[in-house]
Amino acid sequence: MASSSSSRVSQLGVKAALLAAVCLVLHGGGSMTAAELCVGYYDDTCPDAISIVQGVLEEAHQSDPRIFASLIRLHFHDCFVQGCDGSVLLDTFDGFESEKDARPNNGSARGFPVVDAAKAALEDACPGVVSCADILAIAAEISVELSGGPGWSVLLGRLDGLTSSKADAENLPGPFDGLPVLRAKFRNATLDDTTDLVALSGGHTFGRVQCQFVTARLYNFSGTNQPDPTLNPAYRAFLSQRCPRNGDGSSLNDLDPSTPDTFDNNYYTNLEVNRGFLQSDQELKSDPGASTTTAPIVDRFASSQDAFFRSFAQSMIKMGNIRPVTDPSLGEVRTQCAFVNDS
Ligand code: HEM
Ligand SMILES: *[C@@H]1O[C@H](CO)[C@@H](O)[C@H](O)[C@H]1NC(C)=O
Ligand SMILES: *[C@@H]1O[C@H](CO)[C@@H](O)[C@H](O)[C@H]1NC(C)=O
Ligand SMILES: *[C@@H]1O[C@H](CO)[C@@H](O)[C@H](O)[C@H]1NC(C)=O
Repeated sequence: MASSSSSRVSQLGVKAALLAAVCLVLHGGGSMTAAELCVGYYDDTCPDAISIVQGVLEEAHQSDPRIFASLIRLHFHDCFVQGCDGSVLLDTFDGFESEKDARPNNGSARGFPVVDAAKAALEDACPGVVSCADILAIAAEISVELSGGPGWSVLLGRLDGLTSSKADAENLPGPFDGLPVLRAKFRNATLDDTTDLVALSGGHTFGRVQCQFVTARLYNFSGTNQPDPTLNPAYRAFLSQRCPRNGDGSSLNDLDPSTPDTFDNNYYTNLEVNRGFLQSDQELKSDPGASTTTAPIVDRFASSQDAFFRSFAQSMIKMGNIRPVTDPSLGEVRTQCAFVNDS
């Protein structure tokens, strides 16, 4: 688990610890100009923050095996919209329409009550200290690790922002985006458009997905009235049973039927045999432009879970570093994650 007294002796842990040390020196020196995130941010003010979140997640997982997948997705949807500022958690207020109502989130993003429960537990232990944006970052790491994936040292110290953007949330990477668009959206988020894109898409190694996001691939791909040629015929037959042409578009499927709740590299071994669920998944391997960009990385992660885990941890730290709010005039520690404090 991600502990500040880093028991993990990995290269990553060491790197993050060095970063953290720099951060603490800056704090201590009182000469801090641009605040940075750091591992030990809550060591003095809320030393049990991470284990408190972990307790809430373990409890939730007992009745909801999907919750770990849902929580990492919330962190992704938070960070890609205005940076990791907790904006995805806000309800509509003061002329800001909630990102929850944007198409990628509406009827899809879930886990909000568990975030609220973690927030409530943290407010009990150390009122007004741990931001909702940090809760999402912590929850993402714990979720991956408790599902069998890699751990990493989570950098902390984000404040919660005071705004949200439904318009930017509408523009999140979409399941029907082609490879060039996916790459452009990752670049725009200041991430790398090959390694980060492929590694983070590996988040689709667990969790669920609605039929509406695959029906076009099954029955009428790009308006051809034919299935997507890059969809394995046996997998297509399987999915056609589960997602009939005029069936309920909200029926759920496993993103990775081979190990639905385990964080492993099967996402990539699936792509190798045309068993990606979303068009945006299979494009990473099968788009004509993939062979010189993303496909070799898919191949590498398919043949080495270790390589995937190392890249995934690194890319998650990078994603968690997208435009964090650290200036107190631009953010706050929310008391409730769905509301800014003065509302
Ligand atoms: C690369 C572009 C991406 C696209 C186009 C995409 C799209 C989607 C879609 C359409 C769903 C299903 C939603 C539903 O059926 O309601 C989904 C689910 C999911 N996504 Fe992504 N996603 C992307 C990247 C990511 C990233 C970067 C992560 C995390 C690192 C992630 C983690 C997940 C998880 C865990 C689920 C399942 C959530 C659950 O079961 O509640 N996705 N994604
Ligand atoms: C969200 O989805 C529901 C049903 O899926 C729909 O009735 C509602 O209008 C949608 N909300 C927005 C803001 O689009
Ligand atoms: C690029 O990112 C900015 C914010 O950094 C956002 O407002 C804009 O909508 C994004 N554009 C695209 C095409 O994703
Ligand atoms: C297939 O898709 C095309 C373009 O999106 C659409 O015009 C057509 O009506 C669809 N065919 C069927 C049978 O739904």
